[in-house]
Amino acid sequence: MESSIGEVAEAATALETGAAHRDIRKTALDPNFWYPVARSAEVRAGKAHSCSFAGAPIVLARGKQGAAFALEDRCAHRQAPLSAGVVEGERIRCGYHGWAYDASGACVFVPYAAECSRAAPGVRSYPCREAYGLVFVFPGDPALAALAPFPDVPSANDRRYKIRYLNRRAQCHYSFMHENLMDMNHQFLHRRLMGGIKTYFLGNRSGDGWAEATYSFRRVSGRQPLGENFILNRGQWRWKRAPLSAEALATPPGDRMVIRTDYPYQSLKFWIAGASEPALDLWNCYIPVDRAQRINHTFGMIMIKRPKHRFLLDLLWPAIVWFTNGIFAEDRWICELEQAAFDAQGEDRNQEIFPAILDLRRVLVENGLPLETRRG
Ligand code: FES
Ligand SMILES: [Fe+2]
Repeated sequence: MESSIGEVAEAATALETGAAHRDIRKTALDPNFWYPVARSAEVRAGKAHSCSFAGAPIVLARGKQGAAFALEDRCAHRQAPLSAGVVEGERIRCGYHGWAYDASGACVFVPYAAECSRAAPGVRSYPCREAYGLVFVFPGDPALAALAPFPDVPSANDRRYKIRYLNRRAQCHYSFMHENLMDMNHQFLHRRLMGGIKTYFLGNRSGDGWAEATYSFRRVSGRQPLGENFILNRGQWRWKRAPLSAEALATPPGDRMVIRTDYPYQSLKFWIAGASEPALDLWNCYIPVDRAQRINHTFGMIMIKRPKHRFLLDLLWPAIVWFTNGIFAEDRWICELEQAAFDAQGEDRNQEIFPAILDLRRVLVENGLPLETRRG
């Protein structure tokens, strides 16, 4: 579905009616999807790793045989976190009285009352899978796990791409992260790192559960940072730029960026003009950490296609890391300030006018759930 600025009022009205009436910042992420909750490297053999999804504490453990499993991070006995315990073989033992649980969450041993072990209550287990160097769990109804589509990220398994993992926390609702990446009109925020960039908005489309926007960019002032140059131009240096004519400025370059939220995931792909494969492929998932969903943790991958001289990318990797860290720090800063405004005002008072973001907001609200405020 194409939309234009002229349709903004209609879209805004639609957001205020029906299912979409819910405040976007009071919308919980639907737990019935596969969510990354740790990097595989963080879950070491024979060790436990604590994480959480929307306030539910989860312990990831990797047994001797190498498979990771996920349980509620609370011992059934006295609610001590199992992550404070030890992994023995394919079991995890609570660090307090030593109750042992297997990968299904069943209590299989109570050391001081072996005869009670069978009757001892177990803990919840979560379906758990590993892919792309990430550990995924299914926090919703386990019966739906097999039916839920698992994220397909082909570039992550393509050796022609080098991966930079994103593993970061921000003190804001996950929706701010989706909006921030989808909205390429915020280059002004990054002016110190990126210089002057003109953004060409080339249209947006959306459907059930997804929304995407297409852009192109042109540098209008300042020098391109090394990290950005390598990501977007793959080392084809464009340091010196001839002054742009008004005609050139009015014409979008042939490069294309498509940003897409495919609920609940988000991707960004950048194609150099004429290329069939993206030079940059980013995949992100923003996990609500706390019950109120005012903190999120990004697990993602920036996948950069290696140039002909493969070593160049390795050589320039520190510049890419520096550049992407700088951009993320600015995005986090502003998103956390947006969250602070929401907290002070008690409701989302954004006056959004950009069609791509209106579409995105509809997708996040329609596919999310009312945020529960109860404890539990
Ligand atoms: S609290 Fe875990 S064994 Fe007692
Ligand atoms: Fe940004």
